[in-house]
Amino acid sequence: MSIVSIGGLTKRYGDVTAVDRVSLDIGDGEFVALLGPSGCGKTTTLRCVAGLESPDEGTIRLGAGTVVDRSRGYELPPHKRDIGMVFQSYALWPHMSVIQNVSYPLRLKRQRKPAARAKAMEALELVGLAGYESRSVSALSGGQQQRVALARALVREPSVLLLDEPLSNLDAALRTQMRVELKRIHEQTRSTMVYVTHDQEEAVSMSDRIAVMHDGRAVQIGSPRDVFDEPSSRWVAEFLGYENILPGRIESVGDASARVRPDGWDTSLTSTRTTRCSAGDRVWIAIRSTAIAFDDAPADSQDRPNLLDAKVLRSTFLGTAFEHEVAAFGSHLVAKQITAEQSSPAASQGTDAVVRIEPGQIALIPAADDPAADEAGRRPANEAATGPAADATADEPVAGGGRVS
Ligand SMILES: Nc1ncnc2c1ncn2[C@@H]1O[C@H](COP(=O)(O)OP(=O)(O)O)[C@@H](O)[C@H]1O
Ligand SMILES: [Mg+2]
Repeated sequence: MSIVSIGGLTKRYGDVTAVDRVSLDIGDGEFVALLGPSGCGKTTTLRCVAGLESPDEGTIRLGAGTVVDRSRGYELPPHKRDIGMVFQSYALWPHMSVIQNVSYPLRLKRQRKPAARAKAMEALELVGLAGYESRSVSALSGGQQQRVALARALVREPSVLLLDEPLSNLDAALRTQMRVELKRIHEQTRSTMVYVTHDQEEAVSMSDRIAVMHDGRAVQIGSPRDVFDEPSSRWVAEFLGYENILPGRIESVGDASARVRPDGWDTSLTSTRTTRCSAGDRVWIAIRSTAIAFDDAPADSQDRPNLLDAKVLRSTFLGTAFEHEVAAFGSHLVAKQITAEQSSPAASQGTDAVVRIEPGQIALIPAADDPAADEAGRRPANEAATGPAADATADEPVAGGGRVS
């Protein structure tokens, strides 16, 4: 049963459509991340659910009750919604002690002091702050303050907890630790959590499902695996860090694999991710840098697919990995090789090499309704290197790659 049901939610600020017809159903006890770049409408969506913003269109249901129905002009005020919220800025009362902050929502609901205190102590225990109850919040570290904010949101045992980038003010080590803590708290309380973040790692490591947002729209909703392995569009692939995205066409589709030819290539590639394509389709071929590896076999070996003659253009040591830029069939590809060695064991700059692209890691993204992809197919392969475009929102594909002489 879904506990949060958002339908056609739209919120405009003047000319800006901050949230654009977002629909999302969240199950009881689910952990769902709203993931997207800054300005894509994550916070506004959350604030509409909490009742802190009034949407222009759409419906929101919480549990069995409707809290927003714009067509009827109906909106339940925020304090009547069974929701807890945690913000990026902790929003604590600086003049109050830890326990006063945490028990505040209960006191507001006129719970008696001893009962409120007992509940608050439980919440503090849950977030790992037992023993801190009489401290002043202003004497706590950022991480501890965020735990207090979390305890304050949990104390009323809301049916839904909304978290807006709660970890982004913490340093990296603490963020990682809090991720694990939050996951534990989710498992312990089984409360429904909607978690806003622009950080993919956070979204992947904690969520049951991810809703990827772009320009106010929820452009893909699925499990972390689905979203990462089968991005719904070129934009999503780029946002999720696919370094190599080539325009191409599906040549044939078999039972377990498909043949796809990148535009301008003399050969085609085998991909085993075939669920979304048929022969003749225009597609974006998305390949992570880690799926391209140097290989000892000659490129014309028949027994293994996707071996390519390539030239190493550039190699950069990144501390724990080498990043190579290689050219094959006029396309520039980024290949990443995890190694602690100071010099690349497999290839050095300017040499010829054979690279292999893992067939299980070539995502084929339907581009049939994407006129830009077709245009790229007709364009000569003389553009700059394919890779993460400087402007991640650009829809214009970067074709082919520089011809190598
Ligand atoms: N109160 C506001 N007034 C005007 N524009 C706003 C307001 N809040 C948000 N916006 C705009 O709406 C868009 C979405 O913002 P927001 O929901 O905060 O994005 P995110 O949380 O994903 O970074 C942005 O273009 C932002 O500038
Ligand atoms: Mg935000």
